[in-house]
Amino acid sequence: MSKKENQNSPANNYTIENFSEHHLPDVLKIESASNITPWSQEIFLKTLQSRSISFVIISEEKVIAFCIANTVLDECHLQNIVVIEELRGKGIGTFMLNILFKRAKLSDLHTVLLEVRESNKRARKFYQDNGFEELSVRKNYYKTKKGRENAVIMRLEVV
Ligand SMILES: CC(C)(COP(=O)(O)OP(=O)(O)OC[C@H]1O[C@@H](n2cnc3c(N)ncnc32)[C@H](O)[C@@H]1OP(=O)(O)O)[C@@H](O)C(=O)NCCC(=O)NCCS
Repeated sequence: MSKKENQNSPANNYTIENFSEHHLPDVLKIESASNITPWSQEIFLKTLQSRSISFVIISEEKVIAFCIANTVLDECHLQNIVVIEELRGKGIGTFMLNILFKRAKLSDLHTVLLEVRESNKRARKFYQDNGFEELSVRKNYYKTKKGRENAVIMRLEVV
């Protein structure tokens, strides 16, 4: 796969780049503004050591969205996907999922799996609208401010 590829987004011209260390400052900023328990730099770096098919979306030289995914045997694990708040609901998330499905297929991966907080209704709807089905619940998987909450495991077969 080429290191850098250009594709049209639904609304604009965005650049897609494979996620790498130099994106970290932007990615960490977006992550800390978006997640209750944000990933640390170390966690992001660790994802680069595994078989990563992660990428970022760039607009005007800034990261506006990222998708962190790696491969485990013949499965693609979608670990983290975020769009900056002011650009949500404009199709960029769906655009990224379609890129991910294409990348998964090119790597001969036929299943995409993910975990999402049970309380994250918007993300669950977003995944369902994009073809994911809810498989099971992992009890008390995530930390919250007050305690813990369940993870919903979702799956999509890439065709
Ligand atoms: C979930 C997320 C990646 C979706 O990206 P997006 O660019 O907003 O997605 P799209 O525009 O392609 O699709 C939006 C759809 O998802 C839903 N949605 C999810 N989060 C939304 C948000 N914050 N604002 C608007 N719509 C949102 C809407 O119902 C919308 O459905 P519609 O197309 O019927 O209007 C993005 O909202 C986000 O970064 N959320 C915060 C981080 C997060 O929860 N990540 C998932 C962790 S598992």
